Amino acid sequence: MTTTNLTLQAPSPAGLTWAITRNENAKSDAERDAILADPGFGNHFTDHMVDICWSEKGGWHRPRVSPYGPIQLEPSAAVLHYAQEIFEGLKAYRHADGSVWTFRPYENAARMQRSAARLALPELPSEYFIDSIRQLVAVDGAWVPSAPETSLYLRPFMFAKEAFLGVRPAKKVAYYLIASPAGAYFHGGVQPVSIWLSTKYARAGKGGTGAAKTGGNYASSLLPQAEAAQHGCQQVLFLDEGKYLEELGGMNLVLVYRDGTLVTPESDSILEGITRDSVLQLAKDRGHTVESRKVTIDEWREGAASGEIVGAFACGTAAVITPIGRLLAEDFEIVHGGPEASELALSLREELTGIQYGRVEDRHGWLLRLDA
Ligand code: PLP
Ligand code: COI
Repeated sequence: MTTTNLTLQAPSPAGLTWAITRNENAKSDAERDAILADPGFGNHFTDHMVDICWSEKGGWHRPRVSPYGPIQLEPSAAVLHYAQEIFEGLKAYRHADGSVWTFRPYENAARMQRSAARLALPELPSEYFIDSIRQLVAVDGAWVPSAPETSLYLRPFMFAKEAFLGVRPAKKVAYYLIASPAGAYFHGGVQPVSIWLSTKYARAGKGGTGAAKTGGNYASSLLPQAEAAQHGCQQVLFLDEGKYLEELGGMNLVLVYRDGTLVTPESDSILEGITRDSVLQLAKDRGHTVESRKVTIDEWREGAASGEIVGAFACGTAAVITPIGRLLAEDFEIVHGGPEASELALSLREELTGIQYGRVEDRHGWLLRLDA
């Protein structure tokens, strides 16, 4: 990395003075276009990244935009031992007029603060969070794809970088933001997915970290997720106390009842999804009854058998809204077949993505423009 092209920006509206180092080995237009033509999910990264340091003495300081590249850490960095880490996920969308927008970023900023509090990490002020996104999009805006259903996935994260092996909250922490052009999370696009019910493993427990977006929750989901894949399923569903529906490895769950009621599991150990909150709001706006309550796996089984429950869907930033066609367990299966099982999920998806891509009126004021 060279610093010959380092510039210091005048303080941003959030009061940060950004040091910007342009990537002299940035991808060419042709290389970038080839990636954007088929981005997949999580495979490619833009030319730059953002970081802000935090120390107990100095607070948040040294905000930088630099070339995307390896991070130097001491082998004793606390995150590598005790997993003091959190992250977020949101997207930048290109509208038909070329402008770039993001969706409810203050909700992500607030959730990152809640995750930070649980993981004994410092809280990043919301203005800094938003500013970091603006800075990255200012240098890497050309990486926001324009093909239908594509976006630039933004991944803010924070970790304990202090070189110390004692077990206590780190006194030195780093916040980073990287970005990755994204297409559909699931290979089949919006085709209904199959999910595997994990009865052997739990994702979270009472008083644990289930409601925080922290790497450990995902690390513990990898083995059950691999089990799901062995059974031909794309995601794993976890239960609470062995009987209550919780959520999938990387997305929330919503059940669709015959009368149009939507039910989502409630528990202190579920990640409060911004997609879920948004889609339930859109459903309420249409006059649907929406319930957030404890739901047992037996209620789903019996409801599906009687025709009371007609469908289910997964929702999250990466997955958007994806119908669930089948739940597979060790000793039973629930099938939601036929187009009617996916109808409501797909129509809510159309409305939600319509807002995100600027095709449908943003009546809740959820969008924030990033390139102006
Ligand atoms: N639950 C888990 C475990 C997740 O990883 C995600 C994705 O971020 C969600 C739910 C959905 O959250 P959101 O809609 O805010 O992306
Ligand atoms: C997201 O949807 O943003 C997530 O973090 C989930 C992960 C499966 C990519």
